[in-house]
Amino acid sequence: MQHFLALNELSSDQLHELLDLSAELKNLYAGGGRDLCLAGKTLAMLFEKTSLRTRVSFHVAMVDLGGDAIYLKPEDIGIIGKREPARDMARVFSRYVHGIMARTFAHDTIVELARFASVPVINALSDWSHPCQAMADMLTIREHCGPLEGLKLTFIGDGNNVARSLAFACAKFGLKYACATPPGYELDAATIDQANAITPGTAVQTHDPVAAVNGADVIYTDTWVSMGQEEEKEKRVRDFEGFQVNADLLKAAPTKAKIMHCLPAYRGLEITDEVAESPNSVIFDQAENRLHFQRALLKKLLA
Ligand code: CP
Ligand code: NVA
Repeated sequence: MQHFLALNELSSDQLHELLDLSAELKNLYAGGGRDLCLAGKTLAMLFEKTSLRTRVSFHVAMVDLGGDAIYLKPEDIGIIGKREPARDMARVFSRYVHGIMARTFAHDTIVELARFASVPVINALSDWSHPCQAMADMLTIREHCGPLEGLKLTFIGDGNNVARSLAFACAKFGLKYACATPPGYELDAATIDQANAITPGTAVQTHDPVAAVNGADVIYTDTWVSMGQEEEKEKRVRDFEGFQVNADLLKAAPTKAKIMHCLPAYRGLEITDEVAESPNSVIFDQAENRLHFQRALLKKLLA
């Protein structure tokens, strides 16, 4: 594995190995152990958008492994490709650091960084995908629900970057995936087709949230207004009516269904406070598992 850009590009074996390594390192660190495999190594963290979880968990993961991280926002280096082309940045960073992680608007920016970098490049969210989140989510589901194969994950909301990475993750790990969105906000057909090409029968796209939560082991939602879409907020809030994860919707779901959200959550919009804070909610375990997954990813790519 040279880079970590999107889950559909990696094999099921590679992803299983990463998940197992995440659990192994999680146990090691919980028991007070340390693995200083990245001593003397530095990760550059490039952010075109804001972040709490991704920024902090990657930095802590590098420090945990004996390395260091440099946080760079647009005010420091310019939007990627604006002050200087991504291909120049990739080559300059490759002379200074041992890995590059980037959170960008356009997914192509990350692809371009990876093409020209001679060090590993990690996708820390683009408009198209959020693979680190989906891997931390698989770890969380395995911890709460047991072996992943055959479980059903239902996503309610916008067919966005998180929804897409979950579709690929489900295909790679053998879960069933139902994506319920309002008309006009579906996951693109190419994503659904690709998930079903990886594992036939993985993914369905629907406009019916009530039918979608039937038989679900996990009910997942994310913001209706992703970073960069702020101007569409008013229209989106109108269009997503009926797609809130609330007590009423959960009447149609199994009582044991776990509630997931990648955070930040907008309570009262895509999820109610009651559901986000309910005993079935595992949203903070998801946030914690970002750290455990990324430790494993950094060890695999940079050690
Ligand atoms: N879930 C997630 O990626 O959170 P941040 O945007 O805070 O990094
Ligand atoms: N879909 C959201 C995820 C935030 C972690 C966004 O892109 O803003």
